[in-house]
Amino acid sequence: MPRWRSGYAIACRAIPFRFESGPWLITMFKSTVFKKLEKNDFRTLAGIEVGMRQHHWVPSQMIASFSRLFAEEVLYRINRLLKFNLIKKTMVPYEGYMINFDGYDALALGTLTRRGLSAIGENIGVGKESVVYEGIYDDEPVILKFHRAGYTSFKQVTRTRDAGDQHHWIFVARRAARREYDALLALRNAVNVPGCVDHNRHVIVMSVAPGSELSRTTVDDPDWFLDEIIEETKKSYSKGFIHSDLSEYNIFVSPDGVLIIDWPGYVATRHPQAGFLLERDVKNILSFFNRKYGIVRDCEETVEYIMY
Ligand SMILES: Nc1ncnc2c1ncn2[C@@H]1O[C@H](COP(=O)(O)OP(=O)(O)OP(=O)(O)O)[C@@H](O)[C@H]1O
Ligand SMILES: [Mg+2]
Repeated sequence: MPRWRSGYAIACRAIPFRFESGPWLITMFKSTVFKKLEKNDFRTLAGIEVGMRQHHWVPSQMIASFSRLFAEEVLYRINRLLKFNLIKKTMVPYEGYMINFDGYDALALGTLTRRGLSAIGENIGVGKESVVYEGIYDDEPVILKFHRAGYTSFKQVTRTRDAGDQHHWIFVARRAARREYDALLALRNAVNVPGCVDHNRHVIVMSVAPGSELSRTTVDDPDWFLDEIIEETKKSYSKGFIHSDLSEYNIFVSPDGVLIIDWPGYVATRHPQAGFLLERDVKNILSFFNRKYGIVRDCEETVEYIMY
């Protein structure tokens, strides 16, 4: 089981962050670690992050220049970060460092905290490629989605690859988060999607979807809800987006209608596989409504309706 599934770090109840000597010192996670983090710990982490674009293991001299800290300070910070288990070290083929999972989360949360995040609460979902929490940002309830895309494949990459690169999971996860954030921004006034509040590194902050997942609900008027889903799909198509992972798990239903979540895998309507992916989305939804509610709709006709 991946480490982050086993309750990695974030407290299970909403615990307000407590600032002790600056916005970086946050009481949360297995809080003793996070509350001890200081500005230069974050600078060192960020220096390692920059170095990882070019090096799989970042040489310590480079960390000093990327983080703009003196070598002795970096050495001190590295030892702290190692102790906190936020980075990893190798001695082969040279002395080098890499951010690990908790370190990357800490970096993103440090930034988001400075911008308005004030609490993290319940873990409300662990997907194939993300872990999702409730939170408070600018005094409003929000959803925090930590992307984990690339983490599993990264384990293989480490065995075969020695150069640092853009395939490192932190960059893969970061690109996935960016993609999802871009989709939410592009669709926000046209399609019912979560409102985007903030984004940093592999984390997206978004509004809480009203209602509940279609998969967990039995609706009174399934025909109406199916029509709503088809309308939203049509609107997103006309904005140039195909969800490409549309299913009862990624749709929220409420008396007001439907809202579609989970957009990092979208494709553009000009994509060579667009037709296939749109049809697959439609098939998924129609077969769910057929299985659960006995509704019969023609897939081809529905796809045509969406496209034209
Ligand atoms: N904006 C939101 N409001 C409420 N709940 C949300 C929101 N975003 C995500 N969730 C919850 O978190 C779960 C996982 O989110 P999401 O589907 O975006 O991630 P995922 O990793 O792609 O999941 P999967 O791989 O299972 O599809 C959702 O099924 C939903 O229950
Ligand atoms: Mg999902």
